[in-house]
Amino acid sequence: MTLTVDEAGRTVADPGAYADDARLHEALALLRRESPVHRVERPGYNPFWAVTRHADVMEVERDHQLFLNAPRPMLTTAAFDAINAERARQGSALRTLVHMDDPDHRVVRAIGADWFRPKAMRALEPRVRELARRYVDRMVELGGECDFVQQVAVHFPLYVILSLLGLPESDFDRMLKLTQELFGGADDEMRRGEAPDEQIATLLDFFAYFQRLTEARRVDPTDDLASAIANAEVDGAPLNDLDTASYYVIIATAGHDTTSSTISGGLLALLEHPGELARLRADPSLMPYAVDEMIRWVTPVKEFMRTATEDCELNGTAVRKGDALLLSYPSANRDEAVFDDPFRFDVGRDPNKHLAFGFGVHYCLGAALARIEVRAFFEELIPRLESIEAAGPAESVATTFVGGLKRLPVRYTLR
Ligand code: HEM
Repeated sequence: MTLTVDEAGRTVADPGAYADDARLHEALALLRRESPVHRVERPGYNPFWAVTRHADVMEVERDHQLFLNAPRPMLTTAAFDAINAERARQGSALRTLVHMDDPDHRVVRAIGADWFRPKAMRALEPRVRELARRYVDRMVELGGECDFVQQVAVHFPLYVILSLLGLPESDFDRMLKLTQELFGGADDEMRRGEAPDEQIATLLDFFAYFQRLTEARRVDPTDDLASAIANAEVDGAPLNDLDTASYYVIIATAGHDTTSSTISGGLLALLEHPGELARLRADPSLMPYAVDEMIRWVTPVKEFMRTATEDCELNGTAVRKGDALLLSYPSANRDEAVFDDPFRFDVGRDPNKHLAFGFGVHYCLGAALARIEVRAFFEELIPRLESIEAAGPAESVATTFVGGLKRLPVRYTLR
């Protein structure tokens, strides 16, 4: 049966589609071709426009005055939108960088921006490499067979980001669980429970944890990122409790599920394209290109949203003031108008103008760190590989937001 554009539009808001590449990309390709700015009405969700072409995603992101992140920065169910609106009215809603617009966004982003500059990140590289080595050694300890996602990939980026923040190692497992509950909200195996209230409960756990950390760093500052956030001042005053806690939440959450999904999805891509693995092994100078190709291929962030502040037109479609637009990064990153043979995994792809890190003023703060992590991991793993193969089917998380593989059984011999 042929898919209609309306069915394709509804697929964009279907968490299950993101666990089924063929279904997702059939729908996205149809939308790019026939209705690139498409009105989606799906039961349980407030309506929105799905923006699926690379050029249109960039146009929306570029104009951050016409298209704001508030009040609906990402796709959630109508029930969750209502809870968020109520909390915003009460002044108790989560306000991370992705919930903010200028002028607040510029000021609050600057607090962390220094930490994440590519130059500062290069100084961290030896530490990241050491951690990458530790996780490749762990694969050896696991005896030649493991679930690469749960036993390796989820731990390494978490370890990097939580060390950067300055959290004690004994709390890492708890952070991992909370993040998975928050981002895997639509996946039966990952979520805490059915109701939107239970996602809120996860958020409150985060808040309580980081509230205690802030208090500790204000009393006794160290040189970690948590101290920089806890002691930051805006117009001579510290950040309020909610903004401080929100900062930790975005760093702790955005910093690892994304990168671990890229590492496990990148490994799967190499297993499925043994010619590309051989090419990379023969020519390690391809690594920087391979890293960006893995990021494009996986596109772990599935969407962010913007809301129009005025009536306007996008690619010939009239958009009304107050309308929400969903920026489909997986679609932009397979756009035939920008990428040569977009469904080919090519470790030497150049140019590679993917939008997996977004674009414009909200461009991913952690992009340099993410690239270093992915590169360090594969530079440790690949030279030590004698053989590697799938040891069972890979499975992906059902989500409309951030995700990738939740299981990747592999069998290998490492030096
Ligand atoms: C924002 C993707 C890793 C921290 C974003 C955005 C995307 C993204 C798409 C929104 C951009 C926009 O609206 O234009 C990714 C991907 C990653 C990754 C694909 C890994 C491959 C990281 C890491 C960190 C991080 C490692 C930090 C340690 C952030 C922060 C923001 C952000 C703080 C909010 C920026 C703002 O709104 O100003 N990321 N990210 N991300 N990311 Fe990442």
